[in-house]
Amino acid sequence: MSYILFVDDEEQIRKLLSTYLTRQGHEVALATDGYEALKAIRSRMPDLVITDVSMPNMNGFELTRRLRADHKTARLPVVMLSARKQADDVLTGYAEGADEYVAKPIEMTVLAAKIEVLLKRVQAFAGATLKRGGRVIVFAHGKGGAGTTTLAVNTAVALAETKLYRVAVCDLNLEFANAHMLVDLKPQQTLAHLASLDPALIDDAAVSRLLVQDRSGVQVLQSCDAPENAELVTVPLVQQGIDHLRATMDYVIVDTPATFSQQVLAAVDASDAIAVVSQPHLASLKAGKDWLDVLEKLSYPKERTLVVINRTTQGGLENDQIARFFNRKPDVVIPFSTVFDEASDRGRPLVVLRADNVAAKVVKDLAAQLTVLAPAGR
Ligand SMILES: Nc1ncnc2c1ncn2[C@@H]1O[C@H](COP(=O)(O)OP(=O)(O)O)[C@@H](O)[C@H]1O
Ligand SMILES: [Mg+2]
Repeated sequence: MSYILFVDDEEQIRKLLSTYLTRQGHEVALATDGYEALKAIRSRMPDLVITDVSMPNMNGFELTRRLRADHKTARLPVVMLSARKQADDVLTGYAEGADEYVAKPIEMTVLAAKIEVLLKRVQAFAGATLKRGGRVIVFAHGKGGAGTTTLAVNTAVALAETKLYRVAVCDLNLEFANAHMLVDLKPQQTLAHLASLDPALIDDAAVSRLLVQDRSGVQVLQSCDAPENAELVTVPLVQQGIDHLRATMDYVIVDTPATFSQQVLAAVDASDAIAVVSQPHLASLKAGKDWLDVLEKLSYPKERTLVVINRTTQGGLENDQIARFFNRKPDVVIPFSTVFDEASDRGRPLVVLRADNVAAKVVKDLAAQLTVLAPAGR
């Protein structure tokens, strides 16, 4: 039995359809417009939404757009229903992210068949992702310049250098991506290039074609290569990108911007562990603490988080002061080293360029800790 939300402003149709769907064995909730629908979804997540297009207050297009923009509902199957069966409407419906479009007057058997197909697809997908064993590790920070990208890339290279794992870096900095520069690569295509494709055509192979490989074996997936195209990288696209990467990799290291966007939250949802990176200065620590607090609110298990202090400058607060601030001992403290800048300007990861450097050794330790928190293996 599935829980279906049906949204329509006409009472008669609501009655007709809810009776029919209930007889089909589904549990049905009703809403009269987009706002009511969003409220109902917040109180209980349905398995599928059927929505009319023309409704007062918030129509079906806007409802679908909002569902797709939120990491919690981006994957919710949506069937659009409308009397307006002009080609334009159908196209708009699909563009907003509807999975199916059914014309009014409704052919009940057609609608029922489409519902069954969508529900089966969701179940198959849930089963498939459970089986796909690659681990996703998010590097997060709340204040730029903490060395997040530097540590994400160097950790990925350290993991790949062990020759035990297939490793990818997924760069979620949409406006100003730079992870690829640390390994002197220039991806020709990015996730944004897939934005115009039918989502059903985005498979493992399509995502693999976007990857560029570094000498260590690390594959880099860039999300976007021009600030003005950032909006093409939607939440569902990020979810698909990460899903396909984890299908073919042992570790997917996600580099994120210092924002709390739906795209970053989508990565957090998919993650097996999170490294929160801060500099040993108050503003950066405060941002790191905010991250830890919000993860706690999301019931993210504390034992799957790592507090990483990165001494990007000389000086800064002492480790015990930091421990008091976080009410928790930092798991890793990366020492200050001028060779980080040198390495990045040369497009070589520090862990390779200066394998014996003290900071490089600590980054390798960070990589090792992550393999304990989130062991590879399928
Ligand atoms: N431990 C460190 N010691 C010295 N410089 C560092 C260290 N870690 C990172 N850096 C430098 O700090 C700068 C910011 O790093 P970056 O990774 O771009 O930060 P973020 O992604 O958090 O904005 C870079 O110039 C980088 O080389
Ligand atoms: Mg960065």
